[in-house]
Amino acid sequence: MRLDYVSIFPDFFAPLALSLPGKAAASGLLDVRVHDLRTWTHDRHRTVDDSPYGGGAGMVMRPEPWGEAFDALLPDRPAPPGESRPTVVFTTPSGERFDQRLAEELASRDHLVFACGRYEGIDQRVVDHARERAEVREISLGDYVLNGGEVAALAITEAVVRLLPGFMGNAASLVEESHAESGLLEYPVYTKPPQWRGHEVPAVLRSGDHAKIAAWRHEQAVRRTAERRPDLLTPSVLDDGTPIVRAAPGDAGELLTLQRACWVQEALANDMLDIPALHESLDDVRTWLGEWDTWVVRRAGRLVGAVRGRREPGTDGEDGDLWDIGRIMVAPDLQGSGLGRALLEHIQAVAPAGVTSYVLFTGAASVRNQQMYKKAGFRLRRDLPAPPGAVVLTKRRR
Ligand code: ADE
Repeated sequence: MRLDYVSIFPDFFAPLALSLPGKAAASGLLDVRVHDLRTWTHDRHRTVDDSPYGGGAGMVMRPEPWGEAFDALLPDRPAPPGESRPTVVFTTPSGERFDQRLAEELASRDHLVFACGRYEGIDQRVVDHARERAEVREISLGDYVLNGGEVAALAITEAVVRLLPGFMGNAASLVEESHAESGLLEYPVYTKPPQWRGHEVPAVLRSGDHAKIAAWRHEQAVRRTAERRPDLLTPSVLDDGTPIVRAAPGDAGELLTLQRACWVQEALANDMLDIPALHESLDDVRTWLGEWDTWVVRRAGRLVGAVRGRREPGTDGEDGDLWDIGRIMVAPDLQGSGLGRALLEHIQAVAPAGVTSYVLFTGAASVRNQQMYKKAGFRLRRDLPAPPGAVVLTKRRR
C-alpha cells in the first residue's frame, strides 16, 4: 500500500518510522512518503492561507499549493479498468466519523493520500477538484476539534495498516478485539498470576471448559457494551420504536421455544420431519448462539423474533465475502406483520465490511418465505447446491 501525507507540519509523521509501520515500510509492505505542502508554494513567505471570502474568523488554506500537490501525487488520467483509483483522505472535523468499518474499507485500497488541513479548513474547491481525479473521503476522528488533521491522519493510518495481510502476526486477535466482527466491546482479559493483590482471575477462565469460557466472554462483552456504549447495541428499531437487540446467552431457552414453533410450521409446509433445526436441543442453541451474530426482538417482555448471520470462511480459510443469513423466526401470532422483513433488512445492514453477497436457505415449499426474500432482492439459485428439500437464494450487497 502506498501512503502519502501532505501537511505544513511534516515532522508530525516522524512516528511512522517507528514500530510496526516502520518495519512494514522496511519490508516493502508499505511505501510511505511525507510531503511539506509549502514545497508547492512560490512566494517568498511560502504562503498557504488567506482570509475567507464572506468574512469570518480565521484563515482558509489557499487552493494553489494543494492543486500542485495533487498534480505531483495523483495520476492525471482515469485509472485503466481493473486498477483502483487512489483515495484522498481529507482529515476534518466536518467529515464522516472514523470507525472500524471505515478502517476496513480503507485497508482495501492500494493508495491513500492524506491531505491534512490546518486553520479553518481548506478551500472547498480543493476537495471538489480532488474528486475529479480520485476517490475522496472527508473523515473526522471524532466529535471534537483538533488543531489540525495530522494526528487524525496518524490514528487512521495505525487502524488501517494493522489490517493489511502480513502486517500483524495473529489474524485471530484481529477478529476478537473490540469493534471487530461482533460490534461489541472486547471482554476483559487476564494473565498470570492467578491471584494478584487480592484480585482473582475469574474461575471460569481456568476451568478449561471452552464452551463455558466462550459464553462468559460473550456475556461480559454484551454487559460492557450495554454499560459503556449502549448505542452499539441498538442500531435498529422497528417502525413502532421496538429495538432489535443482540441476543444474550440467557435468550437460548426462549430461542429454542420460538425455533420449535417456527420449524414445526416449516416441517408441515414442506412435509418433512427431518429438518435439523427442528431437532436441536437447548445445548445446540447455546452453541450456535456463541458462533453466530444473533439479534432478537422483544414485545411486552416476550421474545417474538430472531435472526442470525455469520461470515463464511473464504477458500483460503480467511474471512470470506459471503454473509450467511439464517433462522429468521417470527412468533406465529405476528407472522405477516412485517417483522420478518425488518429482521431480514437488519441482518443485511449489520454484515461486516468486506461482505459482498448474502446467502440464505429456505424450504423448497415455503412459498411465503420465498416471496418475501424475492421482494427483498434475493434471487433463487437453482445452480447452487442446497440441502434436501431446501432452496438457496443469494443477493449482492449494494
Ligand atoms: N482536524 C481537526 N479536528 C479534527 C478531527 N476531529 N478529525 C479529523 N481532523 C481534524
